[in-house]
Parts: sequence; C-alpha cells; structure tokens
Amino acid sequence: MFSPFYIGNIKIDPPLILAPMAGVTNRAFRTMCKQSGGCGLVTTEMFSAYACKYRDPGTNTMIDWIEEERPVSAQIFGGDPETVAIASRMLQEAGADIIDINFGCPVPKVARSGSGAALLKNLDTAREILIAARQAVTVPLTLKTRIGWNMDDRQVFNLAKTAEICGVDAISVHGRAAVQGYSGTADWDIIAEVKNSVRVPVIANGDVSTPYAAEEALERTGCDGLMIGRASLGDPWIFNRIAEYLRTGAILPLPTVGEKLAAARRHAVLLSELLGERRAAKEMRGHLVWYVKGMPGAPRLRDRLMTTKSIEEIEEVLNEAGSEHQPGRVKT
Ligand SMILES: Cc1cc2nc3c(=O)[nH]c(=O)nc-3n(C[C@H](O)[C@H](O)[C@H](O)COP(=O)(O)O)c2cc1C
Repeated sequence: MFSPFYIGNIKIDPPLILAPMAGVTNRAFRTMCKQSGGCGLVTTEMFSAYACKYRDPGTNTMIDWIEEERPVSAQIFGGDPETVAIASRMLQEAGADIIDINFGCPVPKVARSGSGAALLKNLDTAREILIAARQAVTVPLTLKTRIGWNMDDRQVFNLAKTAEICGVDAISVHGRAAVQGYSGTADWDIIAEVKNSVRVPVIANGDVSTPYAAEEALERTGCDGLMIGRASLGDPWIFNRIAEYLRTGAILPLPTVGEKLAAARRHAVLLSELLGERRAAKEMRGHLVWYVKGMPGAPRLRDRLMTTKSIEEIEEVLNEAGSEHQPGRVKT
C-alpha cells in the first residue's frame, strides 16, 4: 500500500508530496522539508501564467530550485490556454521536473480571472488548457483540483476523465468543494471514487495531518500518494514521521523544543539567502508562529518574534528562548 509510484517517468519515493502553498513553499521551505526526510516530491508556490509569459521580475526570482530538492513540481495558474502553454514551456526550460496546473484555487483574485477553481465551472476551457500544456511540454504534466465548485456538482469526475484523455500524468484531489474553503472535513470517499474512475495515478489531499490520518487516507482512498500542506507548517518533519510509520509501524518522537528552535533559525537563514535579509525577516514571522506553536511560553515568545526586524534579532530571540527552555518534546 505504501510504495513508490511514477508520475510519467519520475519516481515518487516515498509517495508523500509537499502541497503547493503560496507564500510558503519557496526554495527555503522546500529545502527544509526535503532535508527532514520522507518527502518524495516538492511543489513550488503557484506561478501566474501571465507573469511567467511577461517575465515579471518578482516571478522570475521565485523560479528557483536546487538539485537537492529534486524532483520539483512547478505549479501554474491561468485561464488562457496559450498563456498557460507558454508558461509551462518556460518552466520546463527552467528545469522543472513536473508541470502542475492549478484547477482548485478558490481565492477570488485567482478564480475571478477564470483560473484555478473557476475552471471547474468551465470544462471546455479546462480541456483547451490541458491540450495546450500537453503539447507544450515533454516533462510529466499534472493537475491539482477540488471535488467541484459547489458541494454537489462533483465536476472533479468530468475533469479527471478529460485530463486522462488529454494525457495528464497524475491528478491531485483536495477533498473539498471550492465554496467550502477550508471548512468541514476533506471527503476522502469522493477521492476514492475519483481514483476508481481513472487509470492515471491519483494523489489524495486534505486533512492528512498525522501518521494515523495518513494511514487511513491511503486505506480509504486507495490513492497512489498523499499530498500534505498545512500539517507541514512549522513541522517539516511530518513527512518523515508519516513515512517511518507507514514503512515500519514506528511512531517517531515529536521534535524537541531545541530541534524546533534550531529549525526555525535554519529556515530564517535559508529564507534570507533567497529573499535578502529585510524581506526574509518579515516573511519569517508567519513561519515563526508555526514553529513555536505548542511550546511552553509560546504566546510571549510569539509576541517578541512579531516585533523582530532582522534575521539577527530573530536569532537572538530564538537563542534566548532555547536557553530558557528545559529539554522537552513539543505538542503539535
Ligand atoms: C497558505 C496556503 C497556501 C496555499 N496555496 C496554494 C497554491 O498556491 N496552490 C494550490 O493548488 N493550493 C494551495 N493551497 C492549498 C493546499 O495545497 C492544500 O490543497 C490544502 O491546504 C489542503 O491540504 P492540507 O489539509 O494538507 O493543508 C494553499 C494552502 C495554504 C494553507
């Protein structure tokens, strides 16, 4: 049940995938997850197809990965087939191992422009996008979607069939409708039905937050792999804990306070190499909240971290916190 699988010619081993997360899954965070073990594929933040086409400098700096992260899947959103095709080719030329197209983002800025989850309401354009992207690249092509726009339209089945016909190599399904946002729970039973309806690999996504949940998600959906998003925030070790449990039945200990603080420091350094000191210090604040969650004295520590303005200051606060804390494991 827990075995590697292939997306086209790319082996996903172990079959655990870091979900695309805007503002999170840049090179620094992807490296953290990869180095912590257990993650078979990382996904970038989503790139706007238009921004790629017009070589927007901000987007160009995000198209950036290192050998250690591979395989890397680069995600694109866009509602115009030709533009998505151009962006796909560009990301392939930049060295992406897999191109993933976003058919699931419900955020108004994305959906209002006819991209992301809005394509669940416009399957003709979705098909044109898939045909154009398929013709544009030779690397494996995947898509990520939700179960439908509304709770009961279940357009995922039509999209999955269309994708298979268009030559898509794998489909990731977040088991919620677009209108749900993150409310309710992910419906793993619908994902199981999707898995049974196509021959290409299907990846289950939504609410896989512990080794036990991962085991249940794999059993219930019969999927080829699992995609994990929120559970990795401040916890890049989640993939390793899940992989170890699914391979051997062993539950690894949760990270200690010291390990968490050291990881937060390392993440800050990687982010500063990527974005420069000032932007990194600002972006790191969100991550720090996640890293310190569950630690003794977390609210006070969080307040102090929120006012830091440089990586040096962040390091100082984390070092101080490290010397104050008794060794102990963190509740996640
Ligand atoms: C901060 C954040 C940013 C996200 N950005 C994207 C994105 O850029 N593209 C995408 O397809 N999904 C995005 N998602 C959705 C996740 O990839 C995933 O589908 C969702 O969080 C459900 O999985 P989870 O329960 O494991 O978190 C984002 C989620 C979060 C929390």
